[in-house]
Amino acid sequence: MQTFIDYLIHRIRSKTRHGVHSPSVYALIDTCIYADQPEVSKAILDHYAAAKKDLRLIKGEDLGKDAHTEVSVAQYARTAAIIDVQAALLHRFVHRSQPKKVLELGTNLGKSLACMASGAPSAECIGVEGNHGLAAYAQKAMSALGLDNARVVNASFEAYLSSDQGGYDVVFVDGDHRYEPTLRYFELVKSKMNGGGAIIFHDIYWSPGMKRAWAEIKKDRNVTVTIDLFFLGIAWMGKPQAKEDFSIRFPSSLIRLFF
Ligand SMILES: C[S@@+](CC[C@H](N)C(=O)[O-])C[C@H]1O[C@@H](n2cnc3c(N)ncnc32)[C@H](O)[C@@H]1O
Repeated sequence: MQTFIDYLIHRIRSKTRHGVHSPSVYALIDTCIYADQPEVSKAILDHYAAAKKDLRLIKGEDLGKDAHTEVSVAQYARTAAIIDVQAALLHRFVHRSQPKKVLELGTNLGKSLACMASGAPSAECIGVEGNHGLAAYAQKAMSALGLDNARVVNASFEAYLSSDQGGYDVVFVDGDHRYEPTLRYFELVKSKMNGGGAIIFHDIYWSPGMKRAWAEIKKDRNVTVTIDLFFLGIAWMGKPQAKEDFSIRFPSSLIRLFF
């Protein structure tokens, strides 16, 4: 209920592209958020549509609860994987920015990783997933889809970030949607960006904790521009300068946006 109220408030307060005066942000909104090209490939969409009917069980572990899990591919595909309209936005975003190195924290079955990796085929795309069964599924999916530029690492976010090389241009944070861990991952990722780049947070209105975390991320001195699209927030990193925060109305119906 609270999320729905937040959504209505966002809908009223947010602007369309016509209310944006910054030329670079307008261009991004026009060619990425309000565009529908390039599309995610049919092979990727078909793979994850078929996953919704796949009753095979994935054995793994839930890091948050420190428990073993056995969940069907179908259940993950229906409840955890990003929905098509949001996945398509990530695809366009990466296609537009053509990063060299992309990191995803929280890969699950690999849907968002596949959409980003196919958007920038020359980028090195790394997905981090703590559940070993999910990581294995996602890696197999990348191979089946011919996405040789994507690889999946089975590790906790903390373990991965404590030893990786960094140099990221785009990071998508989509796991452990709580206040303290989200800010901790933000601090770790911040120091590993390739000079500037964008950190994208999924589900910024998911809980009071996520809302607070997003509010603090916006205030960070190295965050120069933010775009709040309700279902995700994009924070551009750079040298401290005057900030600009945009709340943009995503051109999609409520039903298509969330289900
Ligand atoms: C919402 S799902 C990701 C969905 C995926 N990005 C997509 O859109 O297709 C979140 C994933 O993050 C993983 N996860 C959560 N906390 C984690 C942690 N601390 N370390 C590693 N993986 C974690 C979970 O196992 C889960 O598969």
